[in-house]
Amino acid sequence: MKLDCRGANMVKRNPTAFLKEEYQKIQAEGREWVHRKLETPSETQVVVDGQELLMLCSNNYLNLSNHPHLKKRAIEAVEKYGAGSGSVRAIAGNMAIHEEWEKKHADFKEQEASIVWMSGFIANEGAIPTLVRRDDFIISDQLNHGSIIDGVRLTKTVRTIYDHVDMGSLEDRLREADAADPNGEKRILVITDGVFSMDGDMAPLDEIQKLSEEYGAMIFVDDAHGDGVLGRDKKGKGIVDHFSLQGKVQVEMNTYSKAMGVVGGSIVGSQDLVNYLRNTGRSYLLSGSQPPGVAGAAIGSLELLDPKSEYFIPVVEKLLENCNYFKNEIVNIGFDHPITAASAECPTAIVPIICGENEVATKMSNRLMEEGIFALPIMFPMVPRGTARIRVMMNAGLTKDDLNLALGTFEKLGKELKIF
Ligand SMILES: Cc1ncc(COP(=O)(O)O)c(C=O)c1O
Repeated sequence: MKLDCRGANMVKRNPTAFLKEEYQKIQAEGREWVHRKLETPSETQVVVDGQELLMLCSNNYLNLSNHPHLKKRAIEAVEKYGAGSGSVRAIAGNMAIHEEWEKKHADFKEQEASIVWMSGFIANEGAIPTLVRRDDFIISDQLNHGSIIDGVRLTKTVRTIYDHVDMGSLEDRLREADAADPNGEKRILVITDGVFSMDGDMAPLDEIQKLSEEYGAMIFVDDAHGDGVLGRDKKGKGIVDHFSLQGKVQVEMNTYSKAMGVVGGSIVGSQDLVNYLRNTGRSYLLSGSQPPGVAGAAIGSLELLDPKSEYFIPVVEKLLENCNYFKNEIVNIGFDHPITAASAECPTAIVPIICGENEVATKMSNRLMEEGIFALPIMFPMVPRGTARIRVMMNAGLTKDDLNLALGTFEKLGKELKIF
């Protein structure tokens, strides 16, 4: 006899009704991420949903994603190793090409060793929980990326936030952690983005390093937007090199999905760090390894950035030239751009162009598209109310004519929308 566990009058539960209801709510509140369809490679000139546009919103800072050398290296790798790796690294998916990638990456970063993960997000989420125990301390910048926030949430440690790039606030948190552990037995992990993705501002890593050293804390920097952009002598080695801190920042996360033009996350540091992560990082150990084609393309991008390589191209220099020109001109036009005044000290490729309220930024983005420019708005609640913006990403492949066209269009629309 079949037993009915629930009363006859009870309403039958619909297990998936929430999917449509929630989605409709997202749409009604104007929060939907409408996915535009790119019909060409990610270059400076693209076709998006059938329309030819100037690309100003990809993270392909060095314009490498469709570079012939990367494609050649990807094809060679596929021909030699196949389309997939067949396993996780620790079992049967550790190919010679993965090790070559890691060695080249560590050399580029002037570090002892590196470990490659499927993406930067996965690297953050997998590595952070291995570095602290239940009652240790994590001290994290208020505006850190979501992948850091998720990595921190996976820990059972004492988590605190310091005010964005505020060194007084960081020191307060360090002092509190220190006072709670008079025997110095606990670990303190300070985590920061290198370049913050909303404003394009940089973490004061030199000051963070000094404070952390004083309190015996370990530093984890996510250099997703500094890699291939920042660094001394226009070499693109990233924020650690920018501040000459090699060997003093214990954990550095890099991603290949932005300036490097491919995909993949990499953590660089000491050999001890890498040995440890290879044996503890769950999203490394329990996830298939990178397809050989990705590894090949990533090696290709490192070859292009290596001045000793026969394939070297001075692409970082071109990017920085474009960044400087665009940031200065956008202010000359009359836009408010929060970090332009310090652009020489802050040579990042993210240029937020402040429009004000959400509706103005949306209108600006729509009008830009009508005028042939692809640049998307970032709005409240992702940024404070009244600072909705078009976030322009610079690209080494943009010509002076492209930049002037974009600047002319911003000027015209800024006046049309009464932004200045
Ligand atoms: C600061 C920061 N960290 C990590 C990531 C994730 O990188 P990936 O695209 O390699 O997953 C991003 C990407 O948006 C980012 O902006």
